[in-house]
Amino acid sequence: MNISTATKGRGERERERERERERMATGLGKILVFGGTGYLGKHVVRTSIKMGHPTYVYGRPVTPNSNPSNSKVELHKEFQSMGVILIQGELSEHEKLVSLIKQVEIVISAIGTPYVMEQLRIIDAIKVAGNVKRFIPSDFGCEEDLITAVLPPFQDLLEKKKKIRRATEATGVPFTFLSSTCFGAYFLSFLLHPHDKYSEELTIYGTGESKAVFTREEDIAIYIIRAANDPRTCNRTVLFQPSKNILSQLELVSLWEKKTGRSYNKVFVYEEELVKLSETSPHPENVRAAIIHSIFVKGDMANFEIREDDQMEVSKLYPEVEYTTVDQLLDDFVANPPEFHYVEL
Ligand SMILES: NC(=O)c1ccc[n+]([C@@H]2O[C@H](COP(=O)([O-])OP(=O)(O)OC[C@H]3O[C@@H](n4cnc5c(N)ncnc54)[C@H](OP(=O)(O)O)[C@@H]3O)[C@@H](O)[C@H]2O)c1
Repeated sequence: MNISTATKGRGERERERERERERMATGLGKILVFGGTGYLGKHVVRTSIKMGHPTYVYGRPVTPNSNPSNSKVELHKEFQSMGVILIQGELSEHEKLVSLIKQVEIVISAIGTPYVMEQLRIIDAIKVAGNVKRFIPSDFGCEEDLITAVLPPFQDLLEKKKKIRRATEATGVPFTFLSSTCFGAYFLSFLLHPHDKYSEELTIYGTGESKAVFTREEDIAIYIIRAANDPRTCNRTVLFQPSKNILSQLELVSLWEKKTGRSYNKVFVYEEELVKLSETSPHPENVRAAIIHSIFVKGDMANFEIREDDQMEVSKLYPEVEYTTVDQLLDDFVANPPEFHYVEL
């Protein structure tokens, strides 16, 4: 028994239990985020706190040699100022993970692409802890249980994500899988180069006619936290098909031309070239070529029907969320053109 528990009277302990019951009743359970300092993870952490959840982030330590201008150092400061509880450690520290997981209700992983198999360690700890009410693994891309015939370097990644799904299901712990959208700001910035004021060219992959889905990263985070608290999404796959944000590359370029008043030469990179790049380029360019092929040539994110029995769609589940439209996102790009950096693959 620790000192604070020992000195608390029966009344105080009962009030604490009552607060805990209220928190659960209002859906404000404790959330633990893995990968919270990452590209998507930081939005998940910010949203979790904004929605009133006591929020924990487990991540690798910032070392004494870390550059203070490093974004992780800055993020840790920001998180601390918001009241996030930071726990530093490695995923290999099993006992530490188990005792932390025992303190929370919801576990969300936003671990980066190269490390998705490391989530088996999180799943092992969740199994031992035995108390988690919802686990959301790091998906958030193409729907791995739906799409077929993607090029091998991307297939490898999807197979890993499928293994994580099957391991998650095998625990018997309630889960939600979220997928099937491009990170909006990331992919729009990749396609349209908003920061490049002088370029007169844009690359179009394939014929430019296949549709893709774009959801702003902050909105993805809102949907993740909503779904994590939602009994309807328990043991279901939640997909993204917000009607205003399903566009082809040609539609995007035309919209961008209207917003900027510029006119671009379209340089086409056709399917055969992407296939070849996926076969001959070194990692990670081969994976990028295969992902681009799947999303923008085959249209894998947008060309399927939702199976009502085990799949749900975010904009139908949460019609009250006023998601950012691609049109609005491009207005933001005109005002504040973002720089583009690849995420790790
Ligand atoms: N739909 C899309 O357009 C799209 C685009 C990109 C990514 N994704 C997917 O979204 C998910 C998150 O990707 P992301 O790009 O946001 O992630 P990320 O920024 O690359 O990394 C997220 C976090 O992973 C942790 N991490 C890094 N190396 C690690 C290691 N060796 N062991 C354990 N943890 C490590 C780090 O947290 P700490 O340093 O704090 O430990 C890092 O902040 C992935 O599943 C990815 O495939 C989707």
